[in-house]
Amino acid sequence: MIKKRVGVLISGRGSNMAALIAAAKDASYPAEIVLVVSNRPEALGVATARAEGIATTVIDHVAFGKDRGAFERKMQEALERHGVELLCLAGFMRLLTPWFVARWHNRMINIHPALLPAFKGLDTHARALAAGVKIHGASVHLVVSDVDAGPIIMQGAIGVREGDTEETLAARVLAIEHRIYPAALALLASGRIRIVDGRCLIEGADDPASHLIVPDI
Ligand code: GRF
Repeated sequence: MIKKRVGVLISGRGSNMAALIAAAKDASYPAEIVLVVSNRPEALGVATARAEGIATTVIDHVAFGKDRGAFERKMQEALERHGVELLCLAGFMRLLTPWFVARWHNRMINIHPALLPAFKGLDTHARALAAGVKIHGASVHLVVSDVDAGPIIMQGAIGVREGDTEETLAARVLAIEHRIYPAALALLASGRIRIVDGRCLIEGADDPASHLIVPDI
């Protein structure tokens, strides 16, 4: 099997990146992580990736001031140099310009800690608690120019418990993120995803269990 070459963009802790790296160690996984790019020099995930023997590069956005285009061109160069074919955003906290998004059209995915289209943006867990939702979770979606808006590939849900705090909720959602992100990347890398009318169709997904995870936690 020829594995797809995957780049991961991070800004911080990198636990989702670590979940992707762990999944990709399996010989039958259809993708390999060939490069981790961080826009923050101090991101914990950079050390984690290095310890795993993955190539890393830091491209500090601060050095580019307001010039998002120059920052992105630098990222693009690094990604091309490493032959990256698919891109995963994993806690990457920079908005991307339409130029960069177009380059990676249908080849770039993101993980968002909420059941989209609910709770786009930041502070999703606090807002879910404030809204009193009973089910919360995470979504993996293709990236389009609008933030947290592209076709949804996979979602995982958990029940909200009485007495949940932002922290307890975040921890259970994060456990879900670590399951659905590698699973969604595997679907994309193995060519099982088709976009029809802005929605994601998954080949061989008659069984909803293949794109929905509702664990008992
Ligand atoms: C995750 O909750 C992810 O959903 C969001 O940012 C957080 C990143 O965490 N986009 P980590 O860096 O993967 O640990």
